[in-house]
Amino acid sequence: MTFLIKTFGCQMNVNDAEKMRQVLIDKGLAEVDSEEAADIVIINSCAVRAKPEDKVFSYAGRIAKGKKIVVAGCVAQVEKDRVLKKNPAIDFVVGTHQYYRIGDIIDELSREKQQRIKTEFSPDWQELVPAVSARESRFSGFISIMEGCNNFCAYCIVPYTRGEEKYRPFERIVEEAEYLAGQGYKEITLLGQNVNNWQDRQRGMRFPGLLDYLAGHIDVRWLRFITSYPGYYDRELIQVMSRHPRLARHIHFPAQSGSTRILKKMNRSYTRNQYLDIIHDFGRQIPGIRFSSDFIVGFPGETEHDFRMTLSLLEKIRFESVFSFIYSPRPNTSAGQMEDNLDLSMKKERLYRLQAVQERIQLEQNSRLIGQVVEVLVTGKNPRRSGEMLGRTESYQVVNFKANVRPGEIIFILIENVGPYSLRGMEKKDK
Ligand code: SAH
Ligand code: SF4
Ligand code: F3S
Repeated sequence: MTFLIKTFGCQMNVNDAEKMRQVLIDKGLAEVDSEEAADIVIINSCAVRAKPEDKVFSYAGRIAKGKKIVVAGCVAQVEKDRVLKKNPAIDFVVGTHQYYRIGDIIDELSREKQQRIKTEFSPDWQELVPAVSARESRFSGFISIMEGCNNFCAYCIVPYTRGEEKYRPFERIVEEAEYLAGQGYKEITLLGQNVNNWQDRQRGMRFPGLLDYLAGHIDVRWLRFITSYPGYYDRELIQVMSRHPRLARHIHFPAQSGSTRILKKMNRSYTRNQYLDIIHDFGRQIPGIRFSSDFIVGFPGETEHDFRMTLSLLEKIRFESVFSFIYSPRPNTSAGQMEDNLDLSMKKERLYRLQAVQERIQLEQNSRLIGQVVEVLVTGKNPRRSGEMLGRTESYQVVNFKANVRPGEIIFILIENVGPYSLRGMEKKDK
């Protein structure tokens, strides 16, 4: 039997897909790279906004008759039986805490025709997920260290798709990190919805302690972590990051808005000034650290003044990169009950304005790199320009260059040219 996993959504979904892939390969199934060649298509879904959710159903609708279709991931978790109602061709719905049972599910699929659902939140989940997984990259590995979220930001569905916060024990994380380093991985990214709230209660250890240990013992070039919640700010994290050159000097700190009034309505636990103070503290103590962020525009009640506070935050912090989204009402959430008072054209206009400001800032920031030498992890060929390679800097900037190197190598590039979204340069053998 052959399978294909189609993943939407965030890195955690990508990582879950890697684990499912391992389970299926161990079971003797073969992975293929097209729907036509697959007997089983697993759709690993995302529910964070309406658009990715819609994609799940339009994609499922295009799959030919006769294939087994499994919907996994976040839409499966929150929509449950409604997934089957929307598209009766779907054979199985498996939630975010049951995907490691994908092997048994495949058996059930071939045994009976009946549609099935498995979406319990499972307390034994952390012990059962396979640590070793069929990873997409041979040099950049992801390790889930926690899952779930207790914050209930007003707009967000994730606490319902991933459940309450659960932390993987210290030993399991170290085991997986040692394995990756032993395999020659150059970069490890620790994953979680609130990664900086990780804790191991038995050891009395918190996130900075974990990072301190990993940075001291795991031989990779860069250790990273996403996503950090600005409300769980910790001075010790700054100290640990300033001590260890292996910890990439880059933090993704989603601000969501620059207006304290909107942050409050969003149920984010920090104000604009607190956010600025946090960024300031990191910047003062870790020279060269860069930040990236997420923003939502058009949250219910957002005024022109609120929106301008967001633009002014962009100007003040000068993020390395920003993901920005139009607010999308989600089922179960408290904002979903609020009146969605702004029309779509206004939301779109704000999104374009935000993106235009950020684009100018990125071009200005990147221009300062011209003539500098940056360390780059080679990620692969540039699919759009033959003969060219792509890589990433410590702060996750994309770099284009020509050089006789292989993916996974770490090289130095002299930056000659920049755009708002990427850098271009030539290899420099002697730094
Ligand atoms: N745990 C992360 C966010 C995970 S969701 C955090 O707390 O920052 C990824 C991003 O999707 C969020 O940062 C937010 O910007 C966006 N997002 C989440 N729900 C949304 C919604 N209902 N509408 C629009 N954007 C949303
Ligand atoms: Fe969603 Fe907020 Fe939790 Fe992030 S912290 S996953 S935005 S509820
Ligand atoms: Fe989407 Fe679920 Fe990730 S909703 S963003 S795939 S946690």
